[in-house]
Amino acid sequence: MGAQSIVEKKRQYIMPCLGHFYKEPPQFVKGAMQYLFDAEGRKYLDCYAGVSVINCGHCNPAIVDRMVEQMRELQHVCNIYLTENFVRLAERLASITPGRLQKSFFCSTGTEANEGALLLSTLYTKSSEYLALESGLHGRTKLTMSLTGIGMWRTDPTPVGGINFVPNPYCYRCPLGKKYPECDLECANRIERVIKSSTSGRPAALIAESIQGNAGIVVPPRGWFARVKEILSKYGALLIVDEVQTGFARSGKMFAIENFDVEPDIMSVAKALGNGQPISAFISTAEIADVYTRPGASTLGGNPVSSTAGLAVLDYIEEHDLCGAARERGAQLMRGLRALQSKHAIIGDVRGLGLMVGAEFVRTDGSPAAEELDAVIEELKDRGFIVGKNGVGRNVLAFQPPLVISEADIDDVLNALDLILTARDW
Ligand SMILES: Cc1ncc(COP(=O)(O)O)c(C=O)c1O
Repeated sequence: MGAQSIVEKKRQYIMPCLGHFYKEPPQFVKGAMQYLFDAEGRKYLDCYAGVSVINCGHCNPAIVDRMVEQMRELQHVCNIYLTENFVRLAERLASITPGRLQKSFFCSTGTEANEGALLLSTLYTKSSEYLALESGLHGRTKLTMSLTGIGMWRTDPTPVGGINFVPNPYCYRCPLGKKYPECDLECANRIERVIKSSTSGRPAALIAESIQGNAGIVVPPRGWFARVKEILSKYGALLIVDEVQTGFARSGKMFAIENFDVEPDIMSVAKALGNGQPISAFISTAEIADVYTRPGASTLGGNPVSSTAGLAVLDYIEEHDLCGAARERGAQLMRGLRALQSKHAIIGDVRGLGLMVGAEFVRTDGSPAAEELDAVIEELKDRGFIVGKNGVGRNVLAFQPPLVISEADIDDVLNALDLILTARDW
């Protein structure tokens, strides 16, 4: 069809809320592990993995073959009937998720998993008051959008009440103007103030991403999660950890929350669990899960094919040590970006964990260099590299590649970025 015709049909038949990257967008027609190919036969190194989904590589035969085999046997009956794969996947998730997380509910998207996690927290605590972080993103439904702390994604003009936002742990541009560690985690301490001043004193939960993705890859400082959990426990509120973007080896651990030494009460997962197949889940301790006794089912949640994809993904991550790969390649990428930062003033900050790494573009006055970043991303694409963009100021270059990316690939994208920044003389 060609990129131009797709753009035209999108304009005619797709709701205009759905934008797309690039002034001149390619039409992707094929994927193979860390590479993508467009309709004109050009090859690209994918450094965004379809927004942190394709952790195991595009069309990975080890996963696709198992899905195809399952599709030929039994595709769907709904889990109100007995099939085997979803309970095997739930058992596996219980064994790899942190702490006492044990019982899962399967659904299809990250939004749905968060919505379910929030419902469960309400059932358990009998409260409908929630806390969320500024600049967090949790989904598109009424409640998850209301808990999203980025104006650009808050389209609903009448959000749900009973929600309070607290400052996010964004040390590069601290919302409270403090410096870590002298701040004594003032942003976390604020949670107590907000609970006391703006809630009934017993909120259901705080929902937080382990690393804020859309906020611009904001990694909480040491001790932040522990302090948050301590405060929440004091008020009987649960900690819901949103691992939709950070799960499944992305951060160098199976789940990013494992980098922070706290046990979530409820955790949501999606994206990379299916490596492109729609599957998500929320998982909690048995004690919390066991209050969810009224009927609840998702038609497609954990169907035999999606569950097979999940099981194949977990096997692939373990058999190929993708946690180790994320740590090694992530350290290489971070070193390379830090070297570029010392050479190009437009890179104000480099941060991340594993292969979730961001480079924040800033002007000399410290303001977000969003247009400059757009130009860089367009040129990287023209040179054969697909990278992401996020941040409240839309000025963070995001690297979240398939975890099968090679050492030479990382060198290639760093060299291309260096050439572009040098030519523009920023
Ligand atoms: C952290 C986080 N939570 C939830 C969502 C929503 O997931 P989905 O688009 O699968 O509904 C996203 C989507 O990007 C996300 O990044």
